[in-house]
Amino acid sequence: MFDLKHYLAEKRRSINTALDQWCGETDSPSRIVQAMRYSLTAGGKRLRPILCLAAAEAVGGDPDAALVPACALEMIHTYSLIHDDLPAMDDDDLRRGRPTSHIQFDEATALLAGDALLTMAFEILAKEGDPAGGDPARRMRIIHEIAAAAGYQGMIEGQMRDMAAEGAALDAASLAEMHSLKTGALIRASVAAGAISGGADPARIEDLTQYAGRIGLAFQVADDILNVEGDPGVMGKAAGTDRDRKKSTYPALLGLEGSRRFSLRLVEEALHAIAGFDGGADPLRAIARYIIERKR
Ligand code: IPE
Ligand code: IPE
Ligand code: MG
Ligand code: MG
Repeated sequence: MFDLKHYLAEKRRSINTALDQWCGETDSPSRIVQAMRYSLTAGGKRLRPILCLAAAEAVGGDPDAALVPACALEMIHTYSLIHDDLPAMDDDDLRRGRPTSHIQFDEATALLAGDALLTMAFEILAKEGDPAGGDPARRMRIIHEIAAAAGYQGMIEGQMRDMAAEGAALDAASLAEMHSLKTGALIRASVAAGAISGGADPARIEDLTQYAGRIGLAFQVADDILNVEGDPGVMGKAAGTDRDRKKSTYPALLGLEGSRRFSLRLVEEALHAIAGFDGGADPLRAIARYIIERKR
């Protein structure tokens, strides 16, 4: 029986060690490095980097070789959270169990820490390790996947739509599209980067992309549900904020029960997409279930 708890703990450890290598403790860190470290080490779930490693494993690749893209993805994700919490966006005070970056430091430092983490992601992708089995074209594909997912046709567009939709009631198709951009794009890129790093053929990448699309949406549905009924102490961030800000969410559209049923269906579809994979994909299977059962 596959032990997900053990798997997640082990992967988190290697991701945290690798992140420390690039953004680690020094004797007298500059203010910007302090701010970058503050958010990066605050104890996120590391879902995107773990998905990247698990996807490499699922296609028979070496998960250690995928550590560079995995860490780059976590840097980008952390930057997106720092900016998402700013007063100009969601104006949140608590993240990963700590005061948000602009509360702990100040707005300018939070903006710059986000900018610096985003830039550092591409610095390590271009330079560090060998995420692509010595194949420069493969490394370029990984960089392109991640850049496109993080950018104006991916996560950034999703964030734009999220802000524009405050106070509006999106229909099911528009909500799915917004979530697919805002959260789904980086999750799809995490799985794709791992698969490319592991040397997957196009058919496998296509199956994994289907898987990632479903779990990406399920992940955001779960985030919306947790915002209604989650425990802020466990989540490390406030609850009830989507309603306060009149965000378009799944619970608002389908109700809590409807949202739960929808997320279950998405996970079943995700599992179906990778049904042809061998036991190497067991971590991905377990992560799909975990995504909607999580409490934080
Ligand atoms: C939170 O992401 C923001 C969303 C995209 C919904 P996570 O729930 O993965 O946050 P951390 O990384 O564990 O803090
Ligand atoms: C954050 O989404 C998504 C990104 C930063 C891209 P939300 O605003 O819905 O997530 P939380 O609830 O603040 O973590
Ligand atoms: Mg937001
Ligand atoms: Mg937010």
